[in-house]
Amino acid sequence: MGIFSAINDRYFSAIWTVESKRNNRKVDVYRKEIWPEIKGKVLELGPGYAESLRHLDHATATDGAFVVNPGTIHSYTALEPNPFMFGGIHKNAETNGFHVTYDESTTVGHQSASAAPARDNAVPFAIVRGTLDDADSIPQAILDEAPYDTIVTSFSLCTARNPKATVDNIVRLLKPGGAHIFIEHVRQPPPGDPHVTEDNNVNAVLWGKIQDWLTPLWSFVGHGCHLNRCTGETIASAKGWELVEYKSVRPIIDIQSRIMALSFGKAIKARD
Ligand SMILES: C[S@@+](CC[C@H](N)C(=O)[O-])C[C@H]1O[C@@H](n2cnc3c(N)ncnc32)[C@H](O)[C@@H]1O
Repeated sequence: MGIFSAINDRYFSAIWTVESKRNNRKVDVYRKEIWPEIKGKVLELGPGYAESLRHLDHATATDGAFVVNPGTIHSYTALEPNPFMFGGIHKNAETNGFHVTYDESTTVGHQSASAAPARDNAVPFAIVRGTLDDADSIPQAILDEAPYDTIVTSFSLCTARNPKATVDNIVRLLKPGGAHIFIEHVRQPPPGDPHVTEDNNVNAVLWGKIQDWLTPLWSFVGHGCHLNRCTGETIASAKGWELVEYKSVRPIIDIQSRIMALSFGKAIKARD
């Protein structure tokens, strides 16, 4: 790991400790619409602190704890490039009843100790370091577990080095009939975009231009995050889907939400 990228990773993990809570307050209402479709063998790309585990299907265990339902979620793999997130992922996974393991070949030197003994029938949860930026550098642990029933992205395609290649790799890693479930912040869709279900009279043309102007600086201070990606279109234009359904919204909760329209939905891989 280069010194600059290590500092950048450390800095972003510190910022995201606070920012993720603020983000959750704004976006949980939309996540909850689509998260019930997450099931089976699941891969999440760029889970951050894995806060989105809270919206998976949960059940009450024999000891009364509220844990992820093993009938719905069979296994969960967190593919995260920033090792400073691993401790938070581990803690949140255990809180949700998972049994956490680390991929030996990608996480050496970054493993946290388990705080809790494994529960009976706990759903397996693996932490793997890496991305889907490039087909040739997908970690072996991810390829070994493929294909997946569900691949989740939540505010990570804004940072992927090559979003088109990442989506192509998502298609490749899914089972036929498997689902990419996503929520991403996006460039303000143009006026009249049929995906927009919540418009709030935002001046989409002006705010879209502001997103373009701000992106170079934002990306520099924001760990490579882009404000002006049209991620719904990037997903929809990938080859290999039989169905793509998503909504776009222009929340106006605060000034920041004007530079963060959201797109969320699902893309289903073709069955033949
Ligand atoms: C804004 S945070 C979102 C975290 C989490 N998914 C959430 O919804 O709270 C962006 C996440 O993408 C990860 N990331 C960074 N580079 C990435 C890449 N090239 N591909 C995928 N994810 C990446 C970051 O480490 C971080 O976990």
